[in-house]
Amino acid sequence: MIHELSNPVAKTLLNHLRETKTDALRFRHIVQELARLLAYEALKSETIEEQTITTWQGEQTFGFIKEEDLIFVTILRAGLPMIESVTALFPKASSGFLAIKRDDKTHQSVLYYDRIPECKGKTVIIVDPMVATAGSLCDAISVIQAKSPKKIISLNIIGSPEGVAILEQKHTDIDIYIAHIDEKLNEHMFIMPGLGDAGDRSYNTEE
Ligand code: PRP
Repeated sequence: MIHELSNPVAKTLLNHLRETKTDALRFRHIVQELARLLAYEALKSETIEEQTITTWQGEQTFGFIKEEDLIFVTILRAGLPMIESVTALFPKASSGFLAIKRDDKTHQSVLYYDRIPECKGKTVIIVDPMVATAGSLCDAISVIQAKSPKKIISLNIIGSPEGVAILEQKHTDIDIYIAHIDEKLNEHMFIMPGLGDAGDRSYNTEE
């Protein structure tokens, strides 16, 4: 199921990403903030477990998310700022990494590295800023599904209606939290009006 954020803070931050004057440092910073907004939304119904902790009033019991059961998986390279941001909320969560490159000519995604921990019984949260054709996200979902997690959630910043439709059709069991769905894909499979290539914008490269 697709959940698009309606939060005006999220829309404002996202629209700053579209500005060419937003430099790489600010771009990564906004991506990190949006990743947290998406994480709060995606985990708002997460089970809280009672734990006894030592407080200034002695031993007391309070509710916490069981963060050991969370695995954050990012897709290199544009997802790197997102995973840094969300794992800082949950220091006991594990992380996994996938390297997927979209071929410039065929627009097909190619997986060339994967390092995903054991997923059985865990909630796996994929973080990647962009869903254009959705090829990269579908590849990531396939790799993770093969490892039998309890559930998969995806956090994305911007998507195309075409990519989102593919996800809705192929992955009905997966919750996708996305800050904004843009107008369309162009003939080069870029999101329009979009924000350029999030990897290039984050790391000052041009291809
Ligand atoms: C971008 C983005 C997604 C992918 C989305 O990565 O970060 O992973 O494109 O496109 P898709 O939905 O058509 O698969 P890119 O391949 O440009 O690599 P990068 O992160 O290294 O820039």
